[in-house]
Formats: sequence, C-alpha cells, structure tokens
Amino acid sequence: MSHPGRLEGKTAIITGAGLGLGEGITRKFIDEGANVLLFEVNKENGQKVADSLPKEKALFFSGDVTDQDHWHEALKACLDQFGGCDIVVNNAGVVHRAGPSFEVPKSEYDRIMNINVTPLYHSAAAIQPFFAKQKHGVFVNISSISAPRPRPNLVWYAGSKGAVSAITKGLAAEFAKDGVRCNAICPVIAETGMVASVLGGTDTQDGRATVMKAIPLGRFATPADIGNAAAFLASEEASFITGIELPVDGGRALQ
Ligand SMILES: NC(=O)c1ccc[n+]([C@@H]2O[C@H](COP(=O)([O-])OP(=O)(O)OC[C@H]3O[C@@H](n4cnc5c(N)ncnc54)[C@H](O)[C@@H]3O)[C@@H](O)[C@H]2O)c1
Repeated sequence: MSHPGRLEGKTAIITGAGLGLGEGITRKFIDEGANVLLFEVNKENGQKVADSLPKEKALFFSGDVTDQDHWHEALKACLDQFGGCDIVVNNAGVVHRAGPSFEVPKSEYDRIMNINVTPLYHSAAAIQPFFAKQKHGVFVNISSISAPRPRPNLVWYAGSKGAVSAITKGLAAEFAKDGVRCNAICPVIAETGMVASVLGGTDTQDGRATVMKAIPLGRFATPADIGNAAAFLASEEASFITGIELPVDGGRALQ
C-alpha cells in the first residue's frame, strides 16, 4: 500500500536550494509531496536543480536572502504559482576558512553574520504576518553543531549559528500563539562544497580522517540526512515540536 507523502499539499520556500544541503532538502520535500520555491542567488545552479524536478512542483526564484524585498517577492511568487505557503527553510549560509580567530578578516566576519543571521530577520518580517493570518506555518532553520558545541578555529561561524539557534527558540516562543512552529537543525560537517573551508582551506584525506575520528558514527552528514530531518520537522508528525535544536551529527556533540 502506498502512503501519501509527509508533505502532501504543502508548499515550502527553501533558501540556498541550488547546491549542497539545500538541494538535498529540496529533493526530499518534493519526494514527500511538497511544492517548492527554490530561493537561490546562483541562477545557474538554482535553475538546474529546478529543471531536474517535476515542473508543476518546483519553481526557481532568483534572489538574495539578505534583501528583504526579495523575501516579499518570493512569497508573492510562491502564492501566485502554488496558491499557498506553509513552510520556510532558512538553509542558505556561508562559512569562513577555519583558522585562528584574529586572522579571519573583518570582511569575512561581516559576510558570515550578514548571510547566516540577517535573513532570519527578513524571513520573519516578510512571512510571519502571512503565517499568523492563516494560523499555521513552520520555519526550519539550518544551524550547526558548532552552535551548541563551538570549537577552535570556526569561532565566528559558530557565533553566527549560535544566533540562528537562539533566534529560532525566541521566535518559537513568540509565534506559538499563532500556530507557527520554529525549529533548528544542527548538522555536523557534511559532504558539500563547505568541506574545504571547514578543513582550513584544502579538502585532504588527512583532514577528513581527523574530523571523521571525532564523529562516533564514522562518517560525514549527507544532504539526504538533513533533508530527512527537515521533512520531519516541517511535517504534521512534528506538530507538537517547537523551539528545538535537532543535532544531525552522528554523535559528534557527545565527545
Ligand atoms: N556543509 C557543512 O558541513 C555544514 C555543517 C553544518 C551546517 N551547515 C549549514 O548548512 C547550510 C547549507 O550549507 P551547504 O554546505 O549546503 O553550503 P553550499 O555552499 O554547498 O550551498 C549553499 C547555497 O546557498 C546559496 N546562497 C549563499 N548565499 C546566498 C544568498 N545570499 N541568497 C540566496 N542563496 C544563497 C549558495 O548559492 C548555495 O547554493 C548553511 O547554512 C551551512 O552553514 C553546513
């Protein structure tokens, strides 16, 4: 017997959907029956992923998550195309090259904060009034295991993700009265373009082996791991879960 998808009839805006974890989340959401607006700044990648998905279920929206006007336009595009909006996944994010904290240029610090934190403000400002009016909605924010467990050399990135986790919990408390849930996912290092930066600039077998040793389940996260967790948190199965940071880290935070 086939079951309906977890997200059948739902519509999601997913940021950074053109690559890495965002692409994995998008594919999982489509598999679970959702419509997806792919909110992505890289036109080529965003369009490529959208083109690989069923036309009636996926729409590429070319935009920058640091621009609040783009959030208003994304919501409008979503409503025009799919007739609704139920879920926002704040996934787009960047990392600085791992290294001693005072050697990270201030411009990198600013870029990290601007892209990893500020879009949470914009998404709340642009989307929450709509969610509150319809009395339901879900935000899933991609934080990092470095938020609850910061370690040397990725300090500014961890700080930005600490803000993502704290903001998620605060908004969860504030938006609950409107039937809106907010949760964060905390991935460990994942198989994406970020690996080289997290390893200090170069993706080497030695670097990977060192990090791998500290992950009890013995591998990096995959886009599918994060897609699975995001689909659960966005679904009705998680209807009584709000304000959590869900580690998807192979046990890394235990060490
Ligand atoms: N890869 C990891 O090891 C890891 C671990 C923990 C958390 N995360 C988090 O997961 C999220 C996704 O990371 P990833 O590894 O898939 O990265 P990635 O670099 O592979 O993909 C990020 C995507 O976001 C897009 N993007 C960047 N800035 C944007 C903007 N201003 N507006 C719209 N789109 C923008 C990029 O074009 C890209 O398609 C990030 O928030 C990251 O911090 C990643």
